[in-house]
Amino acid sequence: VEYNGTNYRTVWMEGSSVHYIEQNLLPFEFRVKTAQTYEQCCVAIKEMEIRGAGAIGAMGGFAMALAFSDPRNLPGSDFTLKARATIDLTRPTARNLFYATEKVFSAGHISTETANLAAQAIADKDAQDSLAIGTYGNDLIKEGFRILTHCNAGWLAFVDFGTALSPIYKAHEEGKNIFVFSDETRPRGQGARLTAWELHQAGIPHAIIPDNAAAHYMASGKIDMVIVGADRIARNGDVANKIGTLEKAIVAKEFGVPFYVAAPISTFDPHSASLHDFIIEERNENEVLYQEGIDTSGKITTIRVASPGSHALNPAFDATPAKYITGIITEVGIIKPDPDSIGRILLD
Ligand code: MRU
Repeated sequence: VEYNGTNYRTVWMEGSSVHYIEQNLLPFEFRVKTAQTYEQCCVAIKEMEIRGAGAIGAMGGFAMALAFSDPRNLPGSDFTLKARATIDLTRPTARNLFYATEKVFSAGHISTETANLAAQAIADKDAQDSLAIGTYGNDLIKEGFRILTHCNAGWLAFVDFGTALSPIYKAHEEGKNIFVFSDETRPRGQGARLTAWELHQAGIPHAIIPDNAAAHYMASGKIDMVIVGADRIARNGDVANKIGTLEKAIVAKEFGVPFYVAAPISTFDPHSASLHDFIIEERNENEVLYQEGIDTSGKITTIRVASPGSHALNPAFDATPAKYITGIITEVGIIKPDPDSIGRILLD
């Protein structure tokens, strides 16, 4: 995607350096950071400098490749095995991370060059998939549609056009006169900060709405469809995604609003039979108790927004049962969230 006249991916590798857009600074500052070791990649994932299932996966793949070419990876050592375990421990929910480390780890046993190629291939495939998701998803969007999205599933979250936002970019490109409602997505504000920033850059009409406002808009007929991304999809069509997704799905069903999940096959987990197999990440309570933004002088600053002395709970994801999902927009077409349809695409 183009930003300020330059083409960027959310993460990319050049030689033995991995570059990525530092998402914690957006939308206030655009900065590219560089990781030279797999450990630095792990910190970037953990601290959510890079986030979103696909971006975490691409970064995980590059991290694994860096481990193979690391001078500490001496013949006969278990360096890459340990590196893989460390990368896999950064964040538990997004399937794409494990998909990527597995692929690059097996490729690395042939040569460091094949590890690099495998990591690059994952990012390139993501770019292709996101484009295909955009094309299929766009078929669902009619002229003048008002679309709700949650969290950030745009090009920052998934190389190169995003998942949920890819059909939205395509529909806007075709002049369909769409409007996007972006849930702010507390506590980290991926909707208010990242989705809003992406939509603003692309000139797509939108508004940020409080997390608790979607039911109000759906009840009054102001939303025509919902499109969200996914962090992991089980074989029965249950979906793990950013906390708050479940609530939107239930409300959408109540008011007859179609609820679509956009995700590539690399997000489907053959090892998860249903949502009971998902691991839901719990993050630090300070993400709820404190908020970050710019002060009147333009400096990024942190303030406490909750009663001093109280603790918080901070589940980062929730699981939406398949029965609330109208369809899943994949790179091979739109499928039903059921075992037969998912079994078929996982076999291909
Ligand atoms: O905690 P995050 O910001 O990594 O969570 C991101 C989401 O939940 C996205 O909706 C999901 O990863 C899909 S984007 C490809």
